[in-house]
Amino acid sequence: MSVNIKTAEEIEKMRVAGHLAGEVLQMIRPYVEAGMTTGELDRICHEYIVNTQKAIPAPLNYHGFPKSICTSVNHQVCHGIPGDRVLKNGDILNIDITVIKDAYHGDTSKMFMIGKPSIKAARVARIARECMVLGIEQVKPGTHLGDIGYAIQQHAESQHCSVVRDYCGHGIGRGFHEEPKVLHYGKRGDGLQLEAGMTFTIEPMINTGRHHVKTLPDNWTVVTKDRSLSAQWEHTILVTEDGYEVLTQCPGDEI
Ligand code: MF3
Ligand code: CO
Ligand code: CO
Repeated sequence: MSVNIKTAEEIEKMRVAGHLAGEVLQMIRPYVEAGMTTGELDRICHEYIVNTQKAIPAPLNYHGFPKSICTSVNHQVCHGIPGDRVLKNGDILNIDITVIKDAYHGDTSKMFMIGKPSIKAARVARIARECMVLGIEQVKPGTHLGDIGYAIQQHAESQHCSVVRDYCGHGIGRGFHEEPKVLHYGKRGDGLQLEAGMTFTIEPMINTGRHHVKTLPDNWTVVTKDRSLSAQWEHTILVTEDGYEVLTQCPGDEI
Protein backbone atom coordinates (compact mmCIF):
# COMPACT_ATOMS: atom_id res chain seq x y z
CA MET A 1 0.00 0.00 0.00
CA SER A 2 1.51 3.30 -1.03
CA VAL A 3 0.00 6.50 0.31
CA ASN A 4 1.28 9.57 -1.41
CA ILE A 5 2.13 12.71 0.51
CA LYS A 6 0.99 15.83 -1.33
CA THR A 7 3.38 18.68 -2.06
CA ALA A 8 2.49 22.29 -1.22
CA GLU A 9 1.51 22.86 -4.87
CA GLU A 10 -0.73 19.80 -4.90
CA ILE A 11 -2.34 20.84 -1.62
CA GLU A 12 -3.21 24.22 -3.10
CA LYS A 13 -4.93 22.48 -6.02
CA MET A 14 -6.76 20.17 -3.60
CA ARG A 15 -8.01 23.28 -1.75
CA VAL A 16 -9.41 24.69 -4.97
CA ALA A 17 -11.08 21.41 -6.01
CA GLY A 18 -12.42 20.85 -2.50
CA HIS A 19 -13.86 24.34 -2.34
CA LEU A 20 -15.62 23.89 -5.68
CA ALA A 21 -17.20 20.60 -4.54
CA GLY A 22 -18.45 22.32 -1.36
CA GLU A 23 -19.85 25.18 -3.43
CA VAL A 24 -21.96 22.79 -5.49
CA LEU A 25 -23.67 21.58 -2.30
CA GLN A 26 -24.34 25.21 -1.34
CA MET A 27 -25.64 26.04 -4.81
CA ILE A 28 -28.08 23.10 -4.98
CA ARG A 29 -29.64 23.68 -1.53
CA PRO A 30 -32.57 25.91 -2.68
CA TYR A 31 -33.57 23.40 -5.37
CA VAL A 32 -33.86 20.46 -3.00
CA GLU A 33 -37.58 20.39 -2.27
CA ALA A 34 -40.69 18.26 -2.68
CA GLY A 35 -41.72 17.83 -6.32
CA MET A 36 -38.17 18.01 -7.66
CA THR A 37 -36.69 14.94 -9.35
CA THR A 38 -33.20 13.69 -8.59
CA GLY A 39 -32.52 13.85 -12.33
CA GLU A 40 -33.24 17.57 -12.35
CA LEU A 41 -30.85 18.09 -9.42
CA ASP A 42 -28.21 16.22 -11.42
CA ARG A 43 -28.81 18.42 -14.46
CA ILE A 44 -28.47 21.63 -12.44
CA CYS A 45 -25.26 20.43 -10.74
CA HIS A 46 -23.81 19.24 -14.05
CA GLU A 47 -24.40 22.62 -15.73
CA TYR A 48 -22.97 24.50 -12.76
CA ILE A 49 -19.84 22.35 -12.52
CA VAL A 50 -19.16 22.40 -16.26
CA ASN A 51 -20.23 25.91 -17.24
CA THR A 52 -19.72 28.03 -14.12
CA GLN A 53 -16.90 26.23 -12.36
CA LYS A 54 -15.19 25.06 -15.56
CA ALA A 55 -14.58 21.80 -13.76
CA ILE A 56 -15.37 18.13 -14.43
CA PRO A 57 -18.03 16.09 -12.58
CA ALA A 58 -15.92 13.07 -11.60
CA PRO A 59 -18.74 10.49 -11.30
CA LEU A 60 -19.83 10.89 -14.96
CA ASN A 61 -18.59 7.77 -16.78
CA TYR A 62 -16.54 6.70 -13.73
CA HIS A 63 -16.54 2.90 -14.15
CA GLY A 64 -19.63 3.50 -16.26
CA PHE A 65 -21.63 5.59 -13.77
CA PRO A 66 -24.18 7.39 -15.97
CA LYS A 67 -24.70 10.70 -14.14
CA SER A 68 -22.72 13.61 -12.67
CA ILE A 69 -23.75 13.32 -9.02
CA CYS A 70 -24.99 10.57 -6.70
CA THR A 71 -28.42 10.95 -5.07
CA SER A 72 -29.35 8.41 -2.39
CA VAL A 73 -32.83 8.57 -0.82
CA ASN A 74 -34.05 7.05 2.48
CA HIS A 75 -32.90 3.39 2.62
CA GLN A 76 -30.47 3.98 -0.25
CA VAL A 77 -26.98 4.00 1.24
CA CYS A 78 -24.85 5.46 -1.56
CA HIS A 79 -24.28 5.61 -5.33
CA GLY A 80 -27.94 6.31 -6.13
CA ILE A 81 -28.40 7.20 -9.81
CA PRO A 82 -30.33 10.43 -10.41
CA GLY A 83 -33.45 9.92 -12.50
CA ASP A 84 -37.23 10.34 -12.53
CA ARG A 85 -37.75 9.80 -8.81
CA VAL A 86 -39.78 12.69 -7.39
CA LEU A 87 -38.72 13.90 -3.95
CA LYS A 88 -41.55 13.98 -1.44
CA ASN A 89 -42.22 15.41 1.98
CA GLY A 90 -40.38 13.37 4.64
CA ASP A 91 -37.64 12.02 2.37
CA ILE A 92 -34.01 12.29 3.40
CA LEU A 93 -31.50 12.64 0.58
CA ASN A 94 -27.73 12.39 0.33
CA ILE A 95 -26.16 14.35 -2.50
CA ASP A 96 -22.56 13.35 -3.20
CA ILE A 97 -20.46 15.72 -5.30
CA THR A 98 -17.00 15.05 -6.70
CA VAL A 99 -15.34 17.56 -9.00
CA ILE A 100 -12.02 17.52 -10.80
CA LYS A 101 -10.24 20.85 -11.21
CA ASP A 102 -6.73 21.15 -12.61
CA ALA A 103 -6.43 17.34 -12.37
CA TYR A 104 -7.25 17.17 -8.61
CA HIS A 105 -10.40 15.85 -6.95
CA GLY A 106 -12.65 17.27 -4.24
CA ASP A 107 -15.29 14.92 -2.78
CA THR A 108 -18.06 15.84 -0.34
CA SER A 109 -21.62 14.86 0.49
CA LYS A 110 -24.33 15.83 2.92
CA MET A 111 -27.89 15.05 3.91
CA PHE A 112 -30.89 17.14 2.91
CA MET A 113 -34.35 16.91 4.48
CA ILE A 114 -37.38 17.25 2.26
CA GLY A 115 -40.12 19.07 4.19
CA LYS A 116 -40.52 17.51 7.62
CA PRO A 117 -38.67 14.22 8.09
CA SER A 118 -39.69 11.70 10.75
CA ILE A 119 -37.87 11.91 14.08
CA LYS A 120 -36.05 8.69 13.15
CA ALA A 121 -34.91 10.07 9.79
CA ALA A 122 -33.72 13.36 11.27
CA ARG A 123 -31.93 11.43 13.99
CA VAL A 124 -29.94 9.13 11.70
CA ALA A 125 -28.92 12.11 9.56
CA ARG A 126 -27.69 13.90 12.70
CA ILE A 127 -25.86 10.85 14.05
CA ALA A 128 -24.13 10.24 10.71
CA ARG A 129 -22.90 13.85 10.75
CA GLU A 130 -21.70 13.52 14.33
CA CYS A 131 -19.85 10.35 13.33
CA MET A 132 -18.09 12.16 10.49
CA VAL A 133 -17.12 15.07 12.77
CA LEU A 134 -15.82 12.72 15.48
CA GLY A 135 -13.77 10.93 12.83
CA ILE A 136 -12.36 14.20 11.47
CA GLU A 137 -11.45 15.35 14.98
CA GLN A 138 -9.11 12.37 15.35
CA VAL A 139 -6.98 13.51 12.42
CA LYS A 140 -3.42 14.59 13.16
CA PRO A 141 0.05 13.19 12.44
CA GLY A 142 0.60 9.99 14.39
CA THR A 143 -3.07 9.05 14.65
CA HIS A 144 -3.83 5.57 13.37
CA LEU A 145 -6.59 5.00 10.82
CA GLY A 146 -8.12 2.64 13.37
CA ASP A 147 -8.59 5.56 15.77
CA ILE A 148 -10.85 7.23 13.20
CA GLY A 149 -12.85 4.06 12.64
CA TYR A 150 -13.12 3.44 16.36
CA ALA A 151 -14.46 6.94 17.10
CA ILE A 152 -17.10 6.60 14.38
CA GLN A 153 -18.20 3.08 15.27
CA GLN A 154 -18.30 3.83 18.97
CA HIS A 155 -20.65 6.78 18.49
CA ALA A 156 -22.92 5.06 15.95
CA GLU A 157 -23.32 1.92 18.04
CA SER A 158 -23.82 3.88 21.28
CA GLN A 159 -26.83 5.41 19.51
CA HIS A 160 -28.10 1.96 18.41
CA CYS A 161 -27.19 2.57 14.79
CA SER A 162 -24.84 0.48 12.62
CA VAL A 163 -21.84 1.33 10.44
CA VAL A 164 -21.83 0.13 6.82
CA ARG A 165 -18.78 -2.11 6.33
CA ASP A 166 -18.77 -2.61 2.56
CA TYR A 167 -17.85 0.97 1.59
CA CYS A 168 -15.23 3.23 3.09
CA GLY A 169 -13.41 6.55 2.83
CA HIS A 170 -10.37 6.78 0.57
CA GLY A 171 -7.23 8.65 -0.29
CA ILE A 172 -7.86 11.28 -2.93
CA GLY A 173 -5.80 13.52 -5.18
CA ARG A 174 -5.12 13.04 -8.88
CA GLY A 175 -7.02 9.82 -8.37
CA PHE A 176 -10.69 9.72 -7.29
CA HIS A 177 -10.03 6.70 -5.08
CA GLU A 178 -6.43 6.36 -3.89
CA GLU A 179 -4.81 4.53 -0.99
CA PRO A 180 -5.44 4.32 1.92
CA LYS A 181 -8.83 2.81 2.64
CA VAL A 182 -10.42 4.69 5.51
CA LEU A 183 -12.68 2.26 7.36
CA HIS A 184 -15.48 3.71 9.46
CA TYR A 185 -15.12 1.00 12.09
CA GLY A 186 -12.07 -0.41 13.81
CA LYS A 187 -9.80 -0.63 16.80
CA ARG A 188 -7.73 2.11 18.39
CA GLY A 189 -4.08 1.93 17.36
CA ASP A 190 -4.75 -0.30 14.33
CA GLY A 191 -3.67 0.48 10.82
CA LEU A 192 -1.63 3.13 9.12
CA GLN A 193 -0.32 6.16 11.00
CA LEU A 194 -1.22 9.53 9.51
CA GLU A 195 1.42 11.93 8.20
CA ALA A 196 1.15 15.60 7.28
CA GLY A 197 0.34 15.99 3.60
CA MET A 198 -1.99 12.99 3.31
CA THR A 199 -5.41 13.73 1.84
CA PHE A 200 -8.37 11.40 2.23
CA THR A 201 -12.11 11.35 2.73
CA ILE A 202 -14.11 10.44 5.80
CA GLU A 203 -17.63 9.44 4.74
CA PRO A 204 -19.46 7.20 7.22
CA MET A 205 -22.68 5.51 6.10
CA ILE A 206 -24.86 4.93 9.16
CA ASN A 207 -28.00 2.77 9.26
CA THR A 208 -30.88 2.71 11.74
CA GLY A 209 -31.02 -1.08 11.30
CA ARG A 210 -28.37 -3.65 10.51
CA HIS A 211 -25.19 -2.85 8.59
CA HIS A 212 -25.78 -5.23 5.69
CA VAL A 213 -26.26 -3.75 2.25
CA LYS A 214 -26.97 -4.95 -1.29
CA THR A 215 -26.69 -3.45 -4.76
CA LEU A 216 -29.82 -3.02 -6.89
CA PRO A 217 -30.08 -4.49 -10.40
CA ASP A 218 -29.04 -1.09 -11.82
CA ASN A 219 -25.58 -2.22 -10.62
CA TRP A 220 -24.96 1.00 -8.67
CA THR A 221 -27.58 1.89 -6.09
CA VAL A 222 -26.61 0.46 -2.71
CA VAL A 223 -29.49 -0.10 -0.27
CA THR A 224 -29.82 -1.48 3.24
CA LYS A 225 -30.79 -5.17 3.15
CA ASP A 226 -33.36 -4.68 5.90
CA ARG A 227 -34.70 -1.50 4.23
CA SER A 228 -33.77 0.54 7.29
CA LEU A 229 -32.91 4.22 6.81
CA SER A 230 -29.34 5.21 6.00
CA ALA A 231 -27.47 8.52 6.12
CA GLN A 232 -24.03 9.69 5.04
CA TRP A 233 -21.86 12.81 5.24
CA GLU A 234 -18.47 13.24 3.61
CA HIS A 235 -15.56 15.66 3.61
CA THR A 236 -12.12 15.65 2.01
CA ILE A 237 -9.48 16.14 4.71
CA LEU A 238 -5.83 17.21 4.69
CA VAL A 239 -3.53 16.08 7.50
CA THR A 240 -1.64 19.18 8.66
CA GLU A 241 1.41 19.45 10.97
CA ASP A 242 -0.84 19.89 13.98
CA GLY A 243 -4.18 18.42 12.99
CA TYR A 244 -6.45 18.69 9.98
CA GLU A 245 -7.90 21.01 7.40
CA VAL A 246 -11.33 20.30 5.91
CA LEU A 247 -10.74 20.97 2.22
CA THR A 248 -14.42 20.77 1.22
CA GLN A 249 -15.75 23.13 3.88
CA CYS A 250 -17.11 26.38 2.49
CA PRO A 251 -17.15 29.73 4.30
CA GLY A 252 -20.28 30.09 6.39
CA ASP A 253 -20.87 26.33 6.47
CA GLU A 254 -20.50 24.19 9.54
CA ILE A 255 -18.29 21.14 8.93
N1 MF3 B 1 -18.40 10.07 -4.45
C1 MF3 B 1 -18.37 8.69 -4.08
C2 MF3 B 1 -17.35 8.58 -2.98
O1 MF3 B 1 -17.50 9.26 -2.03
C3 MF3 B 1 -18.04 7.77 -5.20
C4 MF3 B 1 -19.05 7.78 -6.28
S1 MF3 B 1 -18.52 6.74 -7.51
C5 MF3 B 1 -19.77 6.83 -8.61
O2 MF3 B 1 -16.36 7.91 -3.03
F1 MF3 B 1 -19.34 6.25 -9.66
F2 MF3 B 1 -20.84 6.30 -8.10
F3 MF3 B 1 -20.01 8.10 -8.85
CO1 CO C 1 -15.57 9.64 -1.37
CO1 CO D 1 -18.31 11.18 -2.44
